[in-house]
Amino acid sequence: MSSAPAPSTSSAVVTESGTRPRHVAIILDGNGRWARARGLPRAAGHKRGADAVKRAVNSAGDLGIEYLTLFGFSTENWLRPEDEVRDLMGLLRFYLQVEITELHRGGVRFKVIGDRSQLPPDTVALIEQSEKLTAGNSKLVLTVALSYGSRKEIVSAARALAAECMAGNMTPDQIDEAAFSQRLFTHDMPDPDLLIRTSGEQRISNFLLWQIAYTEFVFTPTLWPDFSHDDLKAAVETYMTRERRYGAINA
Ligand code: IPE
Ligand code: MG
Repeated sequence: MSSAPAPSTSSAVVTESGTRPRHVAIILDGNGRWARARGLPRAAGHKRGADAVKRAVNSAGDLGIEYLTLFGFSTENWLRPEDEVRDLMGLLRFYLQVEITELHRGGVRFKVIGDRSQLPPDTVALIEQSEKLTAGNSKLVLTVALSYGSRKEIVSAARALAAECMAGNMTPDQIDEAAFSQRLFTHDMPDPDLLIRTSGEQRISNFLLWQIAYTEFVFTPTLWPDFSHDDLKAAVETYMTRERRYGAINA
């Protein structure tokens, strides 16, 4: 048995029926379709999507959610046209510059997971500043997955464990779920209880593959820019109903 803390892989299973989700993860989707439906450029959809992020952060706090993890930009999203990638990075920089003080004041801890080596250096600097500024906050942990891909994350963990074995710091039989979890970006947070994807798509798209082993899924047709406080509340209520059924079967 490794000395790493117990794995957090079963938080949804041990949750009592009717309990609120501690950790909600969201795959933001539908910005482009929102814009197209209005005859607007995709950038306009992303801008409204950023407003929806602000709204979701406030709502999460109001609903007593402790961890909110947003899939903002995947490793595959780098394949989008250069000007769209530039728009998205620009929005992120703008959001961080303008909103970080507000987040900090609200007790939000901001974190980014993903491959930072792919991000522009000024964006990385801004992310690091924001993480440092908010490191002591604990009302809500807001994690944004940027240039994130779950298979890559899993491969990195495997590589780290192999290197530790080669260095003689551990043996292969000491590799267990806890040791593995400890080497993921998410080592310091519980696994998501609830995963929401907007825009009617029902896919995971390489997001938190290890961490969602016991997660409840809610798929909503709402496009991300339209995602409201009531949508988040409804998803949380659906989750609570499911947990209640699960408890009844177990009783
Ligand atoms: C989600 O909206 C936002 C990001 C991935 C940044 P999309 O840009 O994927 O919007 P659709 O899927 O084209 O509507
Ligand atoms: Mg999409």
